[in-house]
Amino acid sequence: MAFPVTRLRRLRMNPILLDMVSETTVSVNDLVMPLFVCPGENVNNPISSMPGNSQLSIDLLVEECGEILALGVKSVLLFGIPESKDETGAVACTHNSIVQKAIRALKEKYGKELLIIADVCNCEYTTHGHCGTIVNGEVDNDLTLETLAAQSLSLAEAGADIIAPSDMMDGRVQKIRKTLDDNGFQNTPIMAYSAKYASAFYGPFREAAESAPKFGNRRSYQMNPANSDEAMREIEQDIEEGADIVMVKPAMSYLDIIRRTKDTFNIPIAAYNVSGEFSMVKAAGANGWVDEERIMMEIITSIKRAGADIIITYFAKDVAKFLSNH
Ligand code: PBG
Repeated sequence: MAFPVTRLRRLRMNPILLDMVSETTVSVNDLVMPLFVCPGENVNNPISSMPGNSQLSIDLLVEECGEILALGVKSVLLFGIPESKDETGAVACTHNSIVQKAIRALKEKYGKELLIIADVCNCEYTTHGHCGTIVNGEVDNDLTLETLAAQSLSLAEAGADIIAPSDMMDGRVQKIRKTLDDNGFQNTPIMAYSAKYASAFYGPFREAAESAPKFGNRRSYQMNPANSDEAMREIEQDIEEGADIVMVKPAMSYLDIIRRTKDTFNIPIAAYNVSGEFSMVKAAGANGWVDEERIMMEIITSIKRAGADIIITYFAKDVAKFLSNH
């Protein structure tokens, strides 16, 4: 039936009805807050390009997670800033590595109340800032699998609830799955950063995690932003290798990839609303150029609408506050 019998505006006139027919709802259950943990005590180093975010020592991280939980957000994604770095990232594979210590402290305080996702990568831990071991000036895929598996196992032993490899090496899900299974962690899920693009949107994060590459770039392992078919191959392979959740990253410029993944596969999807996406909104908001809160909700809603089940975002606390006030 066409106009004038059909009038689509009819369903938009009453706010209660408008809510009733809303197709997408964002909930605190969807959100994951990324956090940066550093050595020391009582350390809070604000990250200048990411207002409201800081590198936190373990004691303050524990406090911060208390605030996050009080707002109703139940999951965090941890990144570490180590005391020292080395050639291969071996500093991230021990009982006393920074994230492992943080996980134990958080688990001691919050137990199962807090779902801890541990990012697995080498870039924060290598002197050169690349995500793997360098051989002849290039990241060596298969050698890197060894450190990734060792780091994953050590994080699982510390109590991580989910292991999330973000390195983009081929075969890492299979290697990590086998290592976890061989050591009694067959029930620890893997959230794979499957379609992770070589993106300028990671800029602020690299300040936050002190992980910028010292030479070259990440284009030989992260994906070309021009590609969508290739993302489907990456995701298909990760599912075959045993990923429990697949991720698309960044989110905003890749909503088509999220939707295509949703339509193609039957698996939970995480989307990472990354640092640059956050900082742009904060900067424009601070200048009074946009309504920060409305822009934030529009972005998060669009990521959910595109098909994401899980949204990793530096806005997690702000979204939770918004939801409790509306
Ligand atoms: C580590 C990693 C990165 C991000 C998450 N894990 C940076 C990178 O690949 O350079 C980016 C997150 C963000 O920008 O918020 N490999």
